Amino acid sequence: MPTERRPIRPPFWPASQRWLHGWTAALVLIGFAIAWIMVGLPFTQLLLKFRLYQAHKTIGLIVLALVCLRLFLRMVWRRPEQDEDLPRWQLGAASSVHAVLYALLLAVPVLGYLTAATAPIGVPTLFLGLLKVPHLVGPDREWFAMIRPLHRGAAIALVFLASGHATMAIHHHGRGRATLRRMWWG
Ligand code: HEM
Ligand code: HEM
Repeated sequence: MPTERRPIRPPFWPASQRWLHGWTAALVLIGFAIAWIMVGLPFTQLLLKFRLYQAHKTIGLIVLALVCLRLFLRMVWRRPEQDEDLPRWQLGAASSVHAVLYALLLAVPVLGYLTAATAPIGVPTLFLGLLKVPHLVGPDREWFAMIRPLHRGAAIALVFLASGHATMAIHHHGRGRATLRRMWWG
């Protein structure tokens, strides 16, 4: 009798993906909070403002690197099976939300980089406050005026969607499903 060959998929997320998911979530929220503080600070507190901008840019670039690594690992190992007791439309909706989250996780830091590079004031981007990240485009007032609201809007959309996503995960947990455990505890 022929035996069916199925890929081995653990029912939980691999530790590497759990670690990357947790750190990405934490850094997005910290970077988001810093953004509002740094922009709102008066120029009389220039040094603190400068440091917060650099911290914000460093966090954003780390998020970009973590998300690229995450997508690479996901391509190699794929994701574990989705919960089978959920209706098909909910599984489809969850996959679509995840796809949009990934798109925003890539778009927000790239738009942030372009915001920093085109800023008319021409402040360098120092990774960890030390390493100068080259700006591939120069200061440009018109581009800056266009890209800045896109970066801001995409960041708000990311945090908004991630909050809904987290709420749904907690909702499923409350109903006794393993979705949350598989991602946070393994
Ligand atoms: C997950 C990553 C990121 C999030 C959630 C995020 C979020 C935000 C938000 C919400 C603002 C709006 C503040 C406002 O205009 O009132 C902002 C501004 C800004 N972001 Fe990001 N950002 C991220 C990544 C980056 C990266 C990678 C860079 C650059 C390398 C960057 C550079 C900037 C700059 C320069 C501004 C200020 C623009 C201005 O002067 O008004 N961001 N960010
Ligand atoms: C900024 C915050 C967050 C972002 C950007 C984010 C993003 C994502 C993405 C893109 C996935 C899909 C993984 C994949 O298919 O490769 C995912 C999965 C997941 N996330 Fe989040 N997440 C965030 C916060 C949270 C929080 C706070 C919770 C829990 C309270 C949570 C719970 C989960 C769970 C349980 C999964 C696995 C879902 C499944 O197995 O189908 N996430 N997250």
